[in-house]
This record gives sequence, C-alpha cells and structure tokens, in this order.
Amino acid sequence: MPARFTVTTPIYYVNDVPHIGHAYNEVATDVLARWHRMRGDDTWMLTGTDEHGQKIMRTAVANGTTPQEWTDRLVESAWKPQLELLDIQNDDFIRTTSERHKAGVRIFLERLKETGYIYHGEFEGQYCVGCEEYKTPNDLVPGTGEFEGQQVCAIHSRPTETVREANYFFKLSEFDDRLLALYDERPDYVQPEHVRNEVRQFVKQGLTDLSISRNTFDWGIKVPWDESHVVYVWFEALLNYITAIGYGVDEEQFERRWPATHIVGKDIARFHAVIWPAMQMAAGLPISDHVFGHGWLLVGGEKMSKSKATGIEPRQITDVFGVDAFRYYFMSAIAFGSDGSFSWEDLDARYHSELANGLGNLASRVIAMVHKYFGGTVPEAAPDAEIAELAERAVATAEAAIDRFAIDEAVDAAMGIVERLNGYITEQAPWVLAKDEAQQERLAAVLASNVHGIGTAAILLAPVMPTTAQALWAAVGGEGAVTAQPIHEAHRWQGTRTVTTVPPLFPRIEQAQPAT
Ligand code: MSP
Repeated sequence: MPARFTVTTPIYYVNDVPHIGHAYNEVATDVLARWHRMRGDDTWMLTGTDEHGQKIMRTAVANGTTPQEWTDRLVESAWKPQLELLDIQNDDFIRTTSERHKAGVRIFLERLKETGYIYHGEFEGQYCVGCEEYKTPNDLVPGTGEFEGQQVCAIHSRPTETVREANYFFKLSEFDDRLLALYDERPDYVQPEHVRNEVRQFVKQGLTDLSISRNTFDWGIKVPWDESHVVYVWFEALLNYITAIGYGVDEEQFERRWPATHIVGKDIARFHAVIWPAMQMAAGLPISDHVFGHGWLLVGGEKMSKSKATGIEPRQITDVFGVDAFRYYFMSAIAFGSDGSFSWEDLDARYHSELANGLGNLASRVIAMVHKYFGGTVPEAAPDAEIAELAERAVATAEAAIDRFAIDEAVDAAMGIVERLNGYITEQAPWVLAKDEAQQERLAAVLASNVHGIGTAAILLAPVMPTTAQALWAAVGGEGAVTAQPIHEAHRWQGTRTVTTVPPLFPRIEQAQPAT
C-alpha cells in the first residue's frame, strides 16, 4: 500500500485579501504535497478559510454588509483565485461556514461532552480580537504611539479587550502530562526544534482550561445543546482538519486520510501543538503526524501584515517575475522554519543569477549544442561518473531534506546540479572538443552528461516550479508529464534522446519593483 500523506495549510481568516505571507504558507504546503505525489504516496492536500468569529463579524459590519456576504465575496474574489494564481494543487477546500464543517463540529462537541471534558463556568480575561485569543500578561507588551502607557498584544500592537462571560470550558488543564509525554515520545511531532522547545516550555508551566464558547455575539456555530452560545472560533477552526475528511460521517475517507501533517506559521503553532492534540486525546482520535511551524516573512523586521499596512500581494510579484520564480524564490531564499525578509533587490538578484543565468542559460546552451553537434539527438554515451554520481547524490539529499521539511535544502540540492553543470561546461569546453575529430567521444559524453543532469534537476524542481520543469523536461527529451516521474528515482530517468527547443524560461527583467 502506498504511504499516506495528508497535509494541511491553516485555514485563513477572510477579513482581508491574502498577502505573500499567506502565499508562502500555501506554496510550501503545495511543494510538500507535490513532492509526495511524485513519490507515489497517497497524498491529500487540504486548505480553506476560517470565517467565523468577532474579527470577521466586525470587518463585515464596518464594510456595511453581513458576515456571510462578506466571506462569500472574499473567498470567491480573492482566496480561491490566489490558489489558482500560485498553481496550488489542493485536493479540497473547506469553508467553516459550510454545512459539512458545521455538522462535523456538532458531532465532535457531542462526543466530547459525553466524555466529561466539557463544563459550564465563569471567566474573565483579556481578549485580542486580531488573534481571536485570550492573552496572559506574558503575551502583552508596552504599547507605543497612540497606545503609549497601555499594554498591547505583541502580535497586533493593539490593546486587548476585557471579556467577562459564563461559557463552556474544555478541561485543557488535564492534559499537561499526556502532552509532555507526546513531545518526548515523538520528538519529530513538533518541528522545528525551537518551536518544539517553546511549545514544551509553555505546557510545562501548566495549562488552564479553555473557554470554548461565546454568548455575546452570534457569528459562529451554535453549541448543539445550548443555542445561546456559539463555539469559540479557534476550537471549531481546528476541527476543519477532520470535518473536511469525513469525520463522523464518512469513516472510510477518514480512515484513509487521517492523521495529517499540519504546516502552520509559528504564531499559531501553540494552537496546533497544544490545544489540538489535547482535543484529539479527549475525543480518542489518533494524534496528527507532525506540526511544522515555519517562520514569518518580515518587513522592516516585523511580521508582514495587512493590518499594519505592510502586506504585499502576490500578484505584484508574479506580474513581474512569473509564478514559478515566485515559488522558487520563497522556497529557496528562506530556510524553512526561520524568518525571512523579503526585498525586491534580493528577489531580482536571485532571479537573474540563479534562474536566468544559472538554469535558463544552462538549458539553452546545452540544447543548442546538441542541435549543433548531433543534429538534435542526444548521443548514446554514458554520462561521466562525476555527473551521474552528483545527480544520484542530489536526489538522496533532496529526499532526506523533504522528510525533515527542509524544503530550501531540497531546492539547493537540485540547483547544485545546475551550478556544477555550468562549471563542468566551462571546464570541458565542448566547443573546443567539437573542433577535434579525435574528441568526438568526449564531446558525446559531455553533452549526454549535461542532458542527464538537466533531466534530473527538472524532476527535482517540478514540485517547486511546475511549469518551468515541464518545459525543461520536454526540451531534453523527457516523455509525458514530468510530474509522473518517480521523484526518488529522478537520476534514473530515460528520455526519447531527442531534444526540442526550450522557450525562454526566465526573460531578463529591467524594472523589478513596480512603480508605486
Ligand atoms: N485562521 C487562523 C488559522 C486557523 S487554522 C485552524 C489564522 N489565520 S491567518 O489568516 O491569520 O493566518 C494564516 C497563516 O498565515 C498562519 O499560518 C500565519 O502564520 C500565516 N501568515 C500570516 N502572516 C504571515 C507572514 N508575514 N509570514 C508568514 N506567514 C504568515 O491564523
């Protein structure tokens, strides 16, 4: 049986249009899903939108509309189109306002209530609507500017609101020991290491019970046994990962797809690695496979965000550089798991050096030489051992990197082939060999080595740059869809031995940054 790989993005708040921070998250998840599909794994990629809660309700009201109309409009006009724009191959898209989600949430809550992990109680706390989360004093920092003298949320830089309510609670405090045991028994459950340490530290300090309902507004899913309450937005949002795959409704689908791997930003790792596994334990579900908390895209040293007016929309970049370069840049330039600063200068420099001069130039030179010296037929010569071994090593390195979620290292391994081939061509100087009858065999081996290496690189780059990789693949004589190649055997590919022509993959760009 093929291995199961179910991978999820967070579901996005649709209070605004997406920016490149969201795109980063979507592309990374898509690369992992595509990679696993090319391994032959039984892969399922889930994404969607988080549509309830106060934040969205207030935004809708401020825009003179209802939350349902607002979310419908944003989902259709901005969030779904973004997936298409970025060439994301998600298998499903879940909205928390959909009937299937609401039905699954109700089933889960009823089950949890039967276990005795839910009770009714009083609560007063400091709530950040931006985060949709109660904050502890440790989560607050001194405000600046208009909020000078007040404590504000460290993420949104705005004061919290005091909320006093009689709510339903989840007995989160009973799960500390089991959670700590989970982190110890499965060291790769939360990644990377610094996120794991932070989560562990948080749980070690002791957990308090979690308020899981609200009764001062009604934009949410009604608590099944008390319709004067709606379910706390995070509590039901986390459930999207199971309601989308048939929890409580379609056992066969659920068995096949669950557990999943969650790719999330580090700001929401705690929800996924503390609250969510406790919910799973309480309901007797198998625990998720992995929670990977990636870093933030920063602008001026701070998390890029729409609310701080630092959001850049993906289209601003893809209009200039194209979608594949967008995907490549964010996957290669930032170590997955670390923060990264976006700059137009860096994007422009890498685009020209790595893609246009590195990959694009290599492909067009090699193909031109196969045409010129061998009439377009790749000579029947074994690739040089050095290049064959390099290709094989790159595949093994990239495969191992993907298993550690080190997407940037996997891309590096593929680009290592490109870089070496560029050096190898200079050293071997096929244009010199071509002038000497006695060197025909060398010339054949040098060009066969290049074609072999480019084909391997095209396969390894397919999850990151699907369109470019297909063009490269076809140009060096690959048959059919590059995505149909088993990626773990990328160095074993055999083509038709006929090269075609390669379209200009990465045209030079004169003005990188759009005029503002
Ligand atoms: N709705 C919740 C998630 C619920 S999952 C059950 C949420 N939504 S969000 O729209 O605010 O954020 C979605 C994802 O985008 C998060 O993983 C967040 O980390 C990510 N990013 C938002 N801004 C980002 C950057 N500037 N950089 C990288 N990722 C960023 O949280």
